[in-house]
Amino acid sequence: MNRPQATAVAESLLAFWAEAGIDAALLEAPTDRIAEGQRPLAPRSASPTPLRANPAAPPVRPPAIEAAREAAAACADLEALAAAIESFEGCPIRFEGAATRPVFSRGPADAPVVIIGEAPGAEEDRAGQPFVGKAGKMLDRMLAAIGLADRVFITNTVFWRPAGNRTPTPEEQLACKPFVEQAIRLVRPRMLLLVGAPATRSMLGQVEGINRLHGRWFEWRSAEGDLEVPALPTFHPAFLMRTPSAKAMSWADLKTFSERLERLPRP
Ligand code: URA
Repeated sequence: MNRPQATAVAESLLAFWAEAGIDAALLEAPTDRIAEGQRPLAPRSASPTPLRANPAAPPVRPPAIEAAREAAAACADLEALAAAIESFEGCPIRFEGAATRPVFSRGPADAPVVIIGEAPGAEEDRAGQPFVGKAGKMLDRMLAAIGLADRVFITNTVFWRPAGNRTPTPEEQLACKPFVEQAIRLVRPRMLLLVGAPATRSMLGQVEGINRLHGRWFEWRSAEGDLEVPALPTFHPAFLMRTPSAKAMSWADLKTFSERLERLPRP
């Protein structure tokens, strides 16, 4: 790493720490941060974002999943995949009021890492790109701190913004999953980073909370069994903005992730 690169990495790391609330090297009295991080997180009260699917929306039908599989499998590159998603009408979220243009991906097609989030928010819906709002800016700073700025391919479990930013249902994720899988197949990343519990549930079928799953390695396998990629669940940046005490654990996850990436032989 040359001097300007080292300076940029150091600045990103300092910005990440400042964001994490680490703004002093020493305190007058010791604080047990480990015990702090292990305290169960308080349940969120009266969430403004309903978790139910839009009751007016049609349910996801198995033929929609089959149609998604066929459409995705026919795509030989990411441009074709983006076009196939644009024509896909099998995910009811598409009809919940988001811009009809899907939010598919950002990042290089040969990235060593694929990051999968939950669902586009309002800013992503406007911009047509994932993770460009506040949570996205934070994700970018986290990635810069481990030297992965602009070296990741980012997508979500679903490609349209759920009304009120509710969590997509497992069925809605299933309808979009063949496209996510095909994206992974086309990018051929060396590792996956799954941000948040909904992404972890959709990609790994793990239903435990992210507090239990983060920082543990899993092997993601494609539905066809033709591809296996190491996957690490971690906290969603939006969660970290609400829960600063989880930032130290997030940093530990990111270090685990980048250390393994460094150790993997280059293709
Ligand atoms: N949160 C996500 O999970 N994905 C986005 O694209 C933006 C915010």
